[in-house]
Amino acid sequence: MHNACSVLVFSLLRCESSFQTLGLIMFNFSITRCPVCSFRHRASIIGQASLFIFVASLLGMEYASAHEGPDPIAHWFFNARSAQKNKLHARLGPHAKISGSVSVVKDDVGESLMLGADTSLELGDDLARLSDYLPKKEMTVASWFAVNQPREWGGVIGVIQDNGNREKGWVLGYDYNRFYFGLATKGADDGDGKMTYLYSNARFEKGRLYHVAAVYDGATMQIFVNGELSGESKVQSGDILYPKSAPFVLGKYKDADEDYPHLGRIREIVLYDMAAKPEWVKKEFTHQEQLVTLPPQGVAPVKFDFMIKPYLQFVTKDGITVMCQTSKAAMAEVHYGETAAVDQKIVGEKNRFIHEGKISGLQSETQYFYKVVTTDAEGKKIESEVRTFQTANNETTPFSFAVISDTQSNPAVSGKVAQHAWAQRPNFLLHPGDLVGTGSNDDHWTKQYFPSMEPLVSRVAFFPVLGNHEVNARNYYDYMSLPSPEYYYTYSYGNTQFFMIDTNKNVGPDSEQYKWLSKELSKSKSTWKIVCHHHPPYSSDENDYGNLWKTNQSTRGDLRARQLAKLYDEFSVDIVWSGHIHSYERTWPIKADKVVQKSGSIYMITGGGGGGLETAGPFKPAFQNNVRRGHHYCMVSVNGEQLEIKAFDLENRLFDYVKIEK
Ligand SMILES: [Fe+2]
Ligand SMILES: [Fe+2]
Repeated sequence: MHNACSVLVFSLLRCESSFQTLGLIMFNFSITRCPVCSFRHRASIIGQASLFIFVASLLGMEYASAHEGPDPIAHWFFNARSAQKNKLHARLGPHAKISGSVSVVKDDVGESLMLGADTSLELGDDLARLSDYLPKKEMTVASWFAVNQPREWGGVIGVIQDNGNREKGWVLGYDYNRFYFGLATKGADDGDGKMTYLYSNARFEKGRLYHVAAVYDGATMQIFVNGELSGESKVQSGDILYPKSAPFVLGKYKDADEDYPHLGRIREIVLYDMAAKPEWVKKEFTHQEQLVTLPPQGVAPVKFDFMIKPYLQFVTKDGITVMCQTSKAAMAEVHYGETAAVDQKIVGEKNRFIHEGKISGLQSETQYFYKVVTTDAEGKKIESEVRTFQTANNETTPFSFAVISDTQSNPAVSGKVAQHAWAQRPNFLLHPGDLVGTGSNDDHWTKQYFPSMEPLVSRVAFFPVLGNHEVNARNYYDYMSLPSPEYYYTYSYGNTQFFMIDTNKNVGPDSEQYKWLSKELSKSKSTWKIVCHHHPPYSSDENDYGNLWKTNQSTRGDLRARQLAKLYDEFSVDIVWSGHIHSYERTWPIKADKVVQKSGSIYMITGGGGGGLETAGPFKPAFQNNVRRGHHYCMVSVNGEQLEIKAFDLENRLFDYVKIEK
């Protein structure tokens, strides 16, 4: 039990709004419900409270932020008073043993401790002894802290063993740009011993203080950032699953074989064995809201700028989405209109890094202008250049689109093809995947894909699918604004319907995507039906599907993706666009796995947008019409029942052309 008198007194004090003025007041009564706040308290006052109040008051202990709310089971302030003699003295709960260096950082509101690479704040690893401080079924853990050095596995408090399929415990931490709440429970439907890492939608700025709260009520995990719900998961349920032994630590992510110290400030950590309601988290945040306006500490100042200049998503006949990313949390306005004066605007949310402005109510096939104006927390403004876009065409109007795939890791080439494509004025870009080298690497988006593609994607929307190199990373879903669930979707342009599929996921006949595609294709009344997925059902590549320099055996394409061909045959899909093979290939029409002269589907590989080039094998399969090694892009033009495909090399020379008529 953790019911020292001081605990009880402090519990009561937390409910008083102005403790410092209490002075010598005698408490000598028993309560089960606090007279000030409406929350249940776990214990009753049993005398001598006044002494503690007096002593605490003399010591000037930190209760300026006292507030209404339930009692914690543990509570640590990170300041000069708490950190003494190699110990972080808990306000409530176990003290932490300090090894390594901690330094006190003062700001306008108070103090925090800056932790370094050698710092360790250990509560112990005898979990039986610490059992009173380990929530059993419901929990809330909240902290004010700043991350100076983001890392894949950062932690501020945790008690975990995260090894293979025996993951246990819980942790509040962060990765390169967001916070997470990791938890394993006994009743999880993912099978025993798998932690769920619930990441916040909100991103953080280095060196700035944030209030992060993780809540679990026995069925739902939630993560709140600065008082706002920022993520929710129902994968875990039932009692929290603890390891027999694990380091219970503050200021790091640590288990038996991992030890990643927190580099940055921590101000406060508080732990409850009950689930906080959103209103309570909001209130808890609001009490110290001024902390978020304090400037970042201990990091190089960040220049307020566009990390990703404005780009366009999901154009329709009456709307379009403008997105961008700023280097600091900011609010963005999209100004738009039919002249360069851009006299209309939509206002986005505050404190965002990635901004998304959906413009609606536009006229079809009309030219518009737009720019983005963003304002950071200090009121500094930056604005983008004025760019144009055009809304989608009506059914009978001809249109063209560019196809560029596998832009991954080669901005020099992807930039060149994007320029060439823009010069041909496509209505939009189709991107069959592998946009970046590694989807989880922020730099691959902010320094490679978006800057190189900017001449095109700032003027026309791009419609992508996931390649294997996107690694299904959250970045992909953050940067795209596509209909849910985003990894598959459909859209129409003019008289053509596009069906976008993720072939990294299961696409077999029993899969969700197969069934969805079957239903959507059967409903489609469009003149042209075009499917796009990353992996090619047919390919002449030299070694991806069997090494044709060693044997003559090859599957000549991706057999998983080829399962979808049955639907293409059944519903007369006209063209299937893929990438993955970094080369160009156009097949003859194919139906029932055989080359036909008409009414089959043409399979295109256009993986020449930047990735290292690949080569066709020595054997010419019957389906192969045109194969070519080299960086390239394609243009497709549709006019009623006529469709043209053109392919251009890096020097913008036409190297393939085909015209299809219905
Ligand atoms: Fe690729
Ligand atoms: Fe790929």
